[in-house]
Amino acid sequence: MKKSTSSSSRFQTFDLLATLVAVVHSDGAVLFANAALEDALGTSRRLIVDTDFGASFTEPQVLRNALAGVKSNDFAALRYDAWLKRPNRDLLPVHVIVTQTDHPDEIVVELLPLEQQARQEREERLLDQAQATKELIRNLAHEIKNPLGGIRGAAQLLEMEIDSQMTEYTRVIIHEADRLQTLVDRLLAPHRRPHVVGDVNIHEVCERVRSLILAEFPKGLRVVRDYDTSIPEFRGDREQLIQAVLNIAHNACHALAERVAAGDAQLTFRTRVARQTTFGKQRYKLALELHVIDNGPGVPDSIKDRIFYPLVSGREGGSGLGLTLAQTFVQQHHGLIECDSEPGRTDFKILIPLP
Ligand SMILES: Nc1ncnc2c1ncn2[C@@H]1O[C@H](COP(=O)(O)OP(=O)(O)OP(=O)(O)O)[C@@H](O)[C@H]1O
Ligand SMILES: [Mg+2]
Repeated sequence: MKKSTSSSSRFQTFDLLATLVAVVHSDGAVLFANAALEDALGTSRRLIVDTDFGASFTEPQVLRNALAGVKSNDFAALRYDAWLKRPNRDLLPVHVIVTQTDHPDEIVVELLPLEQQARQEREERLLDQAQATKELIRNLAHEIKNPLGGIRGAAQLLEMEIDSQMTEYTRVIIHEADRLQTLVDRLLAPHRRPHVVGDVNIHEVCERVRSLILAEFPKGLRVVRDYDTSIPEFRGDREQLIQAVLNIAHNACHALAERVAAGDAQLTFRTRVARQTTFGKQRYKLALELHVIDNGPGVPDSIKDRIFYPLVSGREGGSGLGLTLAQTFVQQHHGLIECDSEPGRTDFKILIPLP
């Protein structure tokens, strides 16, 4: 006990670091844990001191080997990536740096949380949001849909009864009811159509979207294809994925309007394979990445955090459903859409696990 108190004061400056730091003996027993590590583990350092630090990782042996190597002077420092286990919390992916000190039996273990962590938390938030809003929308849409038919029908009956001067009003009712009906139908679309599963080739999906987009914008838009043709087929709903990619590409084209007019608009479809990646709270050995990149003005800052929410739109006449639907479709494939946008470059990335 005395020993660890004196160690604490000796290593106190580590508490000022944002990096997670532990000082351990060569057998892995913790001598000191800094405040950032305490925080990350969600426990107090009193409970960490004297325990085996190796056991805090999914693969304890890796740290043990590293410590043994440092002790026997095989190397002065060693770096590797690992997963830190945290009681009652998710695994934390970290970059581990094990370094010798002047003292033979005191080894510094530094843990740098990987950038991935930040991404993962953002994704989890997205997923939770999507889940909550999906349910809300679905219920709300049903509630609107039912009386809507009645309103429209009643307006039609009224139209037959009243003199022709007044039909202007009933027309408005019918027109607006129809507009709402279209909106509600779109909201309910993902829940209505059965999920049709077959073998999907992502490049067929891209090609289809490309031809639809080029038919709409035959001039002023260059569509670049950058495909990794080694990507295997996967089980999925082709039509849904086409719709998802089309919604994203459509947005890009809307954003590119000025550049299309100027003749230098560019839309890129880029496919890649990602290995050992984590999204949607799960780690996948293999996943496909489809980037849809445009050189437009970027997503307006005011709505950047909310573009996947329903009814959030940054453009005149937009209903704010395109991305909500796209996200739903991709999530039905256990995937996720992310957006990274700045003026001149907007990148929508679709991630889908591969077999
Ligand atoms: N590539 C992009 N560049 C700039 N802004 C974008 C881009 N993609 C999306 N946005 C912004 O995100 C908003 C939401 O897009 P979303 O597709 O969900 O709705 P919408 O396009 O407004 O309406 P619709 O339901 O017809 O698709 C858009 O209105 C636009 O402001
Ligand atoms: Mg849209």
